[in-house]
Amino acid sequence: MHFIKLAIFAAFALEIALVAIASDAAKLVITVLSQYPGYHTAKAYRLRDNIKEQAKDLQDVSVNIILTHELNLVGSWTIGNILPDLIRNFEESQWYLFCEVNTFIKLKRLMDLLRGFNSSQDIWLGYAVYDHEPTIIHHFSDHTKKFKYPNPSSGFVITAPLVKKLAQRVASGEKPEGEFSIDAAYEFSKFVWDNGKGTRLIHVPELCVVSDDTCATYPQHFHPCGQSIPIQKVYVAVKTCSKFHVQRISVIKRTWAKHAANIGYYSDKADDNIPEAIVTPNTTQGHCAKTYSILKHSNEILTSKKLDWLVITDDDTILSLGKLLQLLTCYNPSDPVALGERYGFRLWKNSGYNYLTGGAGLVLSANLVQKLIEPGFCSCPSPSTPDDMFLFGVCLKRVGTEPIHLPHFHQARPDDYPKVYLASQEPVSFHKFWQIDPKQVYDEWFAEADAYLSPPVQHTEL
Ligand SMILES: *[C@@H]1O[C@H](CO)[C@@H](O)[C@H](O)[C@H]1NC(C)=O
Ligand SMILES: *[C@@H]1O[C@H](CO)[C@@H](O)[C@H](O)[C@H]1NC(C)=O
Repeated sequence: MHFIKLAIFAAFALEIALVAIASDAAKLVITVLSQYPGYHTAKAYRLRDNIKEQAKDLQDVSVNIILTHELNLVGSWTIGNILPDLIRNFEESQWYLFCEVNTFIKLKRLMDLLRGFNSSQDIWLGYAVYDHEPTIIHHFSDHTKKFKYPNPSSGFVITAPLVKKLAQRVASGEKPEGEFSIDAAYEFSKFVWDNGKGTRLIHVPELCVVSDDTCATYPQHFHPCGQSIPIQKVYVAVKTCSKFHVQRISVIKRTWAKHAANIGYYSDKADDNIPEAIVTPNTTQGHCAKTYSILKHSNEILTSKKLDWLVITDDDTILSLGKLLQLLTCYNPSDPVALGERYGFRLWKNSGYNYLTGGAGLVLSANLVQKLIEPGFCSCPSPSTPDDMFLFGVCLKRVGTEPIHLPHFHQARPDDYPKVYLASQEPVSFHKFWQIDPKQVYDEWFAEADAYLSPPVQHTEL
């Protein structure tokens, strides 16, 4: 605990030292929700340098920039628990902006925009989105009230009096409902709204989702870090069971799986519909034993065929291998790398952990797979322990790795997200076939991106 406090203080103190404060200038603190490793921190530093460069040309603005990866707090992405320190270290500030590493900020335009609002009042501004139907990621809460929350990659801004109130609530032990952190922007908005006692988000279209001349902020597109890596370097493990061989595996084979060069279907038994299935321990819940045996088997394949990456999916995951290969250009398979959609468990008090949720699909480097199956690290507490929480959370921590969150991965169906939000996320995966046509989802979102992998490469079932 003391260590954490010190680390935060050091990071804040560094920022104070770096930026001179003009007494009558508008004061803004920008908190960039950044993460390790290199690719992500490099983007955060580039954003910080860019903002500082812009600030030099403006006489009437003083900006401080916090990069959350420097705070060393597993839960910093949920925002609430960094507020007390933020307010303590930047008492003088009038405005607090929160954004992601891919958010571009036009500082002059932003300050002009903020001048139109009174920073002495409780105000928060963002590009407002809301659910069009009840969604699993928001615990199926009532969508008819059009509860508004900000599109995170557009950034959102909170005034000092409101940040102070929120920080006080956090410091006095208040927290969002439940033990899981799933969608930080939504859950934080619920906290700010406080069942009607709090503050409603004001929609500001200049905090854009798509770049144009009017924007003060906007999300930048993903750019690959190099030449796309060959699909032959990837092994895909699909988790299934005999009950779903016909219904689900047939869909997967007709859509994204046909582009895989190396793929294995892990099931409780082989049958005529899927004769190539690799039989693994049968678990109806949690699946820890099953996923652990997938890791062991996959490691043998990665080693013997000298492959770089393991992709693990459910049998109702819909994804684009073409897009995935582009993302992988930014990571080194010789490092311990775990990519996917991050959830948090009991993060609020900084005592919990992050993990990758399985349904969205996840990617592990060959180096990490080997570490995870080293004897003694990751034996499942019980065969039915939740596999993603244990293997891709608790266990990652044991081997000294944090999961990397990529907003391109989705644990639910396209209909479960606001359209505007999805448009700014550049999806790579979706999950669940419930009340949708999965083939249609694939065709709409991914078929074009996978076309360059066609005609299907030589296919070896493993
Ligand atoms: C801003 O809000 C404060 C607090 O409500 C109020 O006292 C002040 O007059 C307002 N300033 C302007 C310029 O409206
Ligand atoms: C595995 O579990 C499922 C679900 O309980 C069951 O239907 C199936 O028969 C089991 N398979 C074997 C081989 O025991």
